[in-house]
Amino acid sequence: MIDKKDIEQAVRILQEGGLVAIPTETVYGLAADADNEESIAKIYPAKKNHNTHPLIVHVANKEAISSWAREVPEDAWKLVEAFWPGPLTLILKRSERAKDFVTGNQDTVALRCPSHPLTRELLQSFDAGKGNGVAAPSANPFGKISPTLAQHVKDDLGLASEGGSVDLILDGGACDIGIESTILDLTGPQPRILREGAITEPMMSKVLDKKVEHGAVTDSPRVSGSLKSHYAPNHPLIISSAEDLPGKTQFLARQFKTFGVIAPEKIATRFAPISEKAFSYSSVEDLTKHLYDFLHQLDKLNIDAIFVVPPESSSEAAGVLDRLSRASAKQN
Ligand code: TXA
Ligand code: MG
Repeated sequence: MIDKKDIEQAVRILQEGGLVAIPTETVYGLAADADNEESIAKIYPAKKNHNTHPLIVHVANKEAISSWAREVPEDAWKLVEAFWPGPLTLILKRSERAKDFVTGNQDTVALRCPSHPLTRELLQSFDAGKGNGVAAPSANPFGKISPTLAQHVKDDLGLASEGGSVDLILDGGACDIGIESTILDLTGPQPRILREGAITEPMMSKVLDKKVEHGAVTDSPRVSGSLKSHYAPNHPLIISSAEDLPGKTQFLARQFKTFGVIAPEKIATRFAPISEKAFSYSSVEDLTKHLYDFLHQLDKLNIDAIFVVPPESSSEAAGVLDRLSRASAKQN
């Protein structure tokens, strides 16, 4: 049930230059009025980040695209028709409206229309027929795991009324998808995926009827999620395939006194008696949805390591495998 009063309060806070944590189908975002430089400037200290980075502008509908972007290619409209509202962020050439404080001084802007019903209501009301949007990075402290529950935001950033940095947290329950949106750059000669997510390469190539490339052209830090250890949990995270398991078990027992496990059901059951906590998953979707919550929970335990048995590689698993490899990057 959507409480109109919550939406009205959230809109008012945004209009007055405050920060609202919003639920989306991917992860929770930390939203501020995308036209207001002062509100955007509050986002970075709230995330305990000393650097600024380009932000995604979240809009209510496809009509808002023309307000924030220029020379919008046909491919963008095709993808929007197929996947908006949904977990796809498009990088387009920016319009006059998209200022340096949102785009990080680039000539491009990131646009996304999220599908979570609560945030859709909020964005439709905030849009005010003018294409108004909110800039929102994931609502986590810099370098930490993204939030997929309102409680994660409360724990990690806190409410302003309780000494934290967020004026209001809209609780929309657990995020359906669980990892950040796919980011597709449409400003180059070919569409290029800058960040893997639930909208996969084959899904987009099919709609566009052309090849979609993977990875940024240069190793630029423009996508902060592309920093190697961006999604780091507090404990070392070790990835091991099911085949390596017998050897790894002994290695783990020798190396680490206590550890947590994230694995397919059968394997997790085997680990339950010897681990501090064993989380199981039944499918790629199930792991993607719960991974960040598992990591948040494991972070709170006094353990020496986290051991993950990943799903097999596939286009559907590309997003979650990417986040797992980044989460383990510090250690490997
Ligand atoms: O699912 C999501 O996309 C979530 C929810 C809240 O919508 N948001 C999110 O925002 O993940 P953030 O700031 O954590 O990650 C957005 C990424 C950043 O790494 C940023 O560098 C990149 O998008 N980005 C933003 N504008 C860009 C641009 N113009 N060119 C290239 N990358 C850009
Ligand atoms: Mg983020």
